[in-house]
Amino acid sequence: MTAALLPPLLAQAEAFLRLFYRESRLDGLDDRLNAVRVEVARTGQYTLSSDELTHGARVAWRNSARCVGRLPWRALTVRDLRQVTRPEEVFGHLLTHLYEALNDGHIRPIISIFGPGVRIHNPQLIRYAGYLQPGGEIIGDPANVALTAYLRRLGWKGGPGTRFDVLPLAIEAAGGIHLYELPADAIHEVQLTHPEVPALGELDLKWHVLPVISDMSLEIGGQVFACAPFNGWYLGTEIAARNLADTERYHQLPGVARALRLDTSQARSLWQDRALVELNVAVLHSFDAAGIRISDHHAVTRQFVRFENQEVRAGRAVRGRWSWLVPPLSPATTPVWHRQYVDGDEPPRFMHEQSAWADLQETVQCPFH
Ligand code: ARG
Repeated sequence: MTAALLPPLLAQAEAFLRLFYRESRLDGLDDRLNAVRVEVARTGQYTLSSDELTHGARVAWRNSARCVGRLPWRALTVRDLRQVTRPEEVFGHLLTHLYEALNDGHIRPIISIFGPGVRIHNPQLIRYAGYLQPGGEIIGDPANVALTAYLRRLGWKGGPGTRFDVLPLAIEAAGGIHLYELPADAIHEVQLTHPEVPALGELDLKWHVLPVISDMSLEIGGQVFACAPFNGWYLGTEIAARNLADTERYHQLPGVARALRLDTSQARSLWQDRALVELNVAVLHSFDAAGIRISDHHAVTRQFVRFENQEVRAGRAVRGRWSWLVPPLSPATTPVWHRQYVDGDEPPRFMHEQSAWADLQETVQCPFH
């Protein structure tokens, strides 16, 4: 039978299992394929072994065209939690995930794969609230205004009202949506200081140390895992050149420029550019001083080129989205600027699903989204 004539699930299972057996240099592919055929014929589904799941998740990272930090894809720790479907257990395992990922600052990439019916409505495990004020002003992260309103609608009373209130998690499981507050010891943050400019520290800026994407599903061998939160460690520019700097996010460059005593009367003085560099210096310096793993855009892009070379040697085509791989600071000083990439996505892969609360996003008033 040719692949085109196979039922879709079986064709996808077979493609993945072939990849897994080839890349793991395992014997016994034919027996495994037969067992899967029988299982699918009988039940309409099949179960991935833990080793298959582990490799599939790692390859999904390797295949992520937008990720510049893929060199260590083989080191992803995979937590097989496919038996876990009850909301309070999901939450407990998420706390363990955060703790193990932090690893005293030597951040480890981890993915936790949960059972059927589970979904996390927050895009990341740790996100700061964005409170829309009656006059249109926003306290906190403007990117999360709709999420904050949604969580309130689910019953969240709201936080203390700082610019950095961590949002509760909305976990869909066992047929309901449940809200959980993260305990303070699950949230690690770094307060920003600058090695030469104390006034920058007085802006009272900080960021959390773990980016844990929690709203993408993971597809392996035709199976889709809707709840598979994963983390790496931050790249400095994500925080300093985007989250804190974008005018539609924390919009901190004017404050940083004042701390640096720059002339902000005309863009041509390049005060924004100079403020941006120093904010990036502050983020890298502060994480380093706190002993928290963080990449800089020069090192990570060099590593990305190593990853590309490695993949070519392994006979695999690298997919990449140039606009995401190139850093938002000094892009042409990094090697990826000068290279070309073919975008694409093939399984195993991470996918963005329609947000569980998309209908609400349109009704929530938000000036930026
Ligand atoms: N850019 C996102 C943020 O600033 C995080 C995306 C994932 N980043 C990572 N280094 N794994 O929160």
